[in-house]
Parts: sequence; C-alpha cells; structure tokens
Amino acid sequence: MDKLAITGGAQLEGSVTISGAKNATLPILAATLLTDEPVCISNVPHLQDVTTTIELLGRMGAKVTVHEQMEIEVDAAEITERQAPYDLVKTMRASILVLGPLLGRFGEADVSLPGGCAIGARPIDVHVKGLQAMGADVDIIDGYIRARAQRLHGAHIVMDVVSVTGTENLLMAAVLAEGETILENAAKEPEVEDLAEFLISMGASISGAGSSKMTVRGVERLHGTNYRVQPDRIEAGTFLVAAAITGGHLRLKKVNPSHLENVLQKLQQAGASIEIGDDWIELDMRGRELKSVDISTEVYPGFPTDMQAQFVVLDAVANGAAAVTENIFENRFMHIPELQRMGANISLSGNTAVVRGVNQLKAAPVMATDLRASASLVLAGLVAEGETIVDRIYHIDRGYECIEEKLRQIGAQIRRLP
Ligand code: EPZ
Repeated sequence: MDKLAITGGAQLEGSVTISGAKNATLPILAATLLTDEPVCISNVPHLQDVTTTIELLGRMGAKVTVHEQMEIEVDAAEITERQAPYDLVKTMRASILVLGPLLGRFGEADVSLPGGCAIGARPIDVHVKGLQAMGADVDIIDGYIRARAQRLHGAHIVMDVVSVTGTENLLMAAVLAEGETILENAAKEPEVEDLAEFLISMGASISGAGSSKMTVRGVERLHGTNYRVQPDRIEAGTFLVAAAITGGHLRLKKVNPSHLENVLQKLQQAGASIEIGDDWIELDMRGRELKSVDISTEVYPGFPTDMQAQFVVLDAVANGAAAVTENIFENRFMHIPELQRMGANISLSGNTAVVRGVNQLKAAPVMATDLRASASLVLAGLVAEGETIVDRIYHIDRGYECIEEKLRQIGAQIRRLP
C-alpha cells in the first residue's frame, strides 16, 4: 500500500495547472450511455475513479478509447450488460450514476447498492423516489437496485434534500423520458451545470441548470458530441490552501474563479492576497499573517463540504480560534484525530470543531480515511516539523491527479513510498 512522505517547512512558490473536475467527469462519462453515437470528452483527469468508470462502461459493452492527454472516446452503441456490479460499485459509490442513463435509454438497470462510506450513510432515497415518480419500478433485491420501466415519463419532482448525484441521476433519466420533467430543490453545483451543458450538446432540452429548478423536455434520442470538462474547483481550492499555510505565492492556471467565490473570500479573510483573471487565480501569502476563519459547510454556492478538511488544517496553524461546522455529512471529521496526533488543538462537539491555532504541527505517521481528509493530512505535512508519513493514500489517488508531482514542482518536499 503506497504511502506519501512529506517533510514540512517549504514555502510553495510557482504555478500549477489544475486538472479537469472529477465530479463533473464521472456523471458525464455515465451520460455517454444515453446515445448510440460516439462521444469525445477532453480535459479528463487521470484518476482512479475515472479508470473505474471506464472499466464499468467497458463491462457494459461500450467501446472506450483513451487517447493521449486523457482525451476519451466512448461508443455506447452496443450496451449488452445493463448492470453495475458490486465489485466495482464498492470501490466507487459514484457508479450509481449509471442508473438514470440505463433506465432512460434501455428501461432497465441493475446497480449494486453503493452502501455507506467513511463520511456517512449516503442514502439514495432521492434517486429512487425520483425515478419512481417518472414511472420506474424500483426494488432492492439482494443488495442490488433493480429498476425497470417501459418508457420513463416526465414528472414534477421536488427532491427532499439537495443531492448532487441525485439531481444528476434524475436529470439523465429525464432527457429521453416522455414529456416534461421539473426538478425542484435541485443541486446548483457547477458540476451539475457541466453535466447539463454536456447533455444539451448532445441534443437534450434543459433549462435552469445551476438553479434550484430545472425543466427538461424529453427528446426521442441524443446524438454524439465533443465536450471539454470544467476545471476541478476542489483541487484548485486545495492547492490555494497549501500555498496559504506555507506562506507561499502560487498561480493556478486553467481554473474557473467563479466556481470558488466563497473559498476565495475565506482565504482573503484568512489574510491572503488574491488576484483573479478569467482562467487563473494568484494567491500571495508572503510575509502575511495567517488568521483563523470560521467555516460552515453548505450546498453551492455556500462553502463546499469538500473543502472543510483543508480549512481545518488552515485554522490549525493560524493565529486565533475558529469554529468549523459540517452541515452536509454526518461523519466528515475523521481527519481530526489524525491532526490531533500531529499536535493540532481541536475540540469536537457534535458537528462543530473548535480549532485553536498552534505555532507548529509535529510530523507523525497518519492514516488517510477518505478523499478530502487524506488531502488535508498532506497539507498538514507541508507545515509540520519533521517528516510526516501518510498511509492508505489510495484515497488521494481517487481524486487528485499526480498530487506529489504537482506539489514537488512548486517546492514541496514530498515523495511516494512503495
Ligand atoms: C457528491 O456526493 C460528491 N460526489 C461529493 O464529493 C460531495 O461531497 C457531495 O456531492 C456534496 O457536495 C460526486 O459528485 C461523485 P449528496 P453525493 O447526494 O451526490 C444526503 C468527493 O470528495 N442525501 O449531495 O453522494 C446525504 O446523506 C465526494 O469528491 C440523502 O439524504 O452527495 C448528504 O448528507 C465526497 N438522500 C447530503 O444529502 C439521497 O438520496 C448531500 O449528499 C442523497 C443524499
């Protein structure tokens, strides 16, 4: 099992190109199942979750060609298997995103129940209730979601909770359904908007993407397309925090600053100087005091839960004290015991962590538990005294493309141990 060894103390300096967004790529790859014409997707990040999704599509019968620079061509003309097996779903919950497209195009889907994960129970009631409202019979049999429908029909769906993949699954189910579907209380994340734009480029009729109410008019079929995935706002935010806590100076290239407004605001409150262009962000923290900032995670455009662990590390080494409240997932503080072992002064009560800044963290062997928690442990290693060893970094490889190469190129002392 790979480990990362990080020696703290370097001020990060230079520029980093941000990869395509993992959480836009996964639903877009699932959506290729909706057409029998070839689709070409570019700016795809080279991540374990993307590889898993490609394998899943291949097992279903799609022809997937990975060209250089991770440009991916998918031809889903012949989909012989309409199921997502447990052995793949258990490694990546996002496999549930094939449910909507399979049902929308073929009227049948058997998808293994994704089950919970480290950060929470991760129920899928929004997905199931919405598909049932569109005329699908959905049963849970032997750990599989078994969905059947003659042809899905439009429906007026008010989702109980704001769910990113719930919204995405129902959107993909609706584009070929008979009639009009209205999705209310829809997720507004940029990745949902990217999926909608992708579907529209295939001939879907969607309005209101990026707002809490989307209207879809079903069409007979969708055609092929070429599409470029949006930049990963969470990878971008993670690198900005790395530069801020090391007192560095970093320029991010190929990002969309409008996807990070709340995070940039928090970084400015923490004392960073931020400049932005249409596809770049520059953060300067040289000689500036890092100040604690309160965080409360919310659905977009509020502060993203996927940036919570990274900001706990920022507050752990900032001047002052701050409250970090996690409102989206019920168990997304697993990074905290690991950070406490590195000397962080954090007290947990319910879904709020009170973080008091310390002068310096101390290196320690720590263990990654989930994707963003593991990224926060790498950040902590960048500012800890000594060499930090982060174990179980397969979690990181799921969501960050070549994290140690990108960090090394801006001055971090980091290497992968076999
Ligand atoms: C997506 O997960 C992301 N994953 C997550 O990113 C992200 O943290 C999350 O959205 C929130 O932004 C992908 O896009 C592949 P939700 P998702 O459904 O869709 C509850 C990462 O680090 N809920 O928006 O599974 C749920 O329990 C990952 O890249 C229901 O109650 O999250 C949670 O409390 C981690 N019923 C809240 O809603 C449902 O049917 C938000 O979950 C669905 C969700």
